Amino acid sequence: MTTTTLPSIRACSRKNRVYVFREFLLETYGSDYLSQGDVVLDIAGGKGDLSWLLSNADGYRSIVVDPRPTQHQHVLRSIDYLRKHPDEAALRAIRNQPTHQPLATLLPELPTDEFQTPRHFPIWVDENLVQAVQAAQKGNQVEWELYWARAMAAFIDNNTDLSPAPPQNSSVTDPKEAWDLIQKCKLIAAFHPDQATDFCFELAELLNIPFCVVPCCVFPAQFPHRKLIDGTRVRDYSGLLSYLTQKYPNAQKAQLAFHETAKARNLVLFSVLPLQQERQNPKRNYAEHEDSPASLLTLSHCVPTSDTTNR
Ligand SMILES: C[S@@+](CC[C@H](N)C(=O)[O-])C[C@H]1O[C@@H](n2cnc3c(N)ncnc32)[C@H](O)[C@@H]1O
Repeated sequence: MTTTTLPSIRACSRKNRVYVFREFLLETYGSDYLSQGDVVLDIAGGKGDLSWLLSNADGYRSIVVDPRPTQHQHVLRSIDYLRKHPDEAALRAIRNQPTHQPLATLLPELPTDEFQTPRHFPIWVDENLVQAVQAAQKGNQVEWELYWARAMAAFIDNNTDLSPAPPQNSSVTDPKEAWDLIQKCKLIAAFHPDQATDFCFELAELLNIPFCVVPCCVFPAQFPHRKLIDGTRVRDYSGLLSYLTQKYPNAQKAQLAFHETAKARNLVLFSVLPLQQERQNPKRNYAEHEDSPASLLTLSHCVPTSDTTNR
């Protein structure tokens, strides 16, 4: 991979990386594609920081899709602290300083009265979900409702560390509401989605919406079917990137502006158009061509890349 070091590349604490991804989403989809109130599925969203920011700073309906319970106390506590210490907040708001805290920069964008708690689908994003979406699209609501009921009951039936958390107040438990939100979804966003990675692309294709995915861990034992065109099994991160870009050749690539580690990958695979429209375009690698879209090259929070397979 051509490694380009730009001044905007910065060391980023774990909790601050999601702010870089949010900025990438806004610059890529914000003004042209997404409007206030649009639904985003934040797949494998973990505690829900990205969805909280997209809901409260940007006005989107971002839904956390992850069996883990969401938790927003830490962000609320930080806001409370920053609001009570405006001088400190002003200092921390300054970008490109060691003291920079992205939340402090965002303070003026946040509501002054009540915050939105993002909705939560406490489910695994897996082949069962993909099949249920396919059934619902064909009008088979019964299958969708059965799927949803099973997903909601999973934490009771199988109460292990791997089972989903009990639904919370923010959880969508009604299958009709869940299906309505899925149908309205405009974007699949996924930051380090672990075992949900492949299904992010499959869902984006089914729903005919763009995807924006930052793959990370590979889990080769759980995904033995992943094979490259030459038959090689996917066993590591570079294999995973090759596999995904072979399967989705129109995926664009960019590097988020934080230092990469083996546990915090920064390469984004994304589409701007829905996949069905992307597929009608000839294959392009924007970093290598003079007709690179200005929108990509001027993004201040990413670096377009030319090759991602050799690491
Ligand atoms: C590395 S964490 C990333 C969390 C969050 N995106 C972030 O960056 O803070 C991976 C998350 O993926 C979730 N996850 C793993 N497999 C999943 C699946 N099949 N469907 C939904 N979530 C999944 C885990 O529960 C965990 O919260």
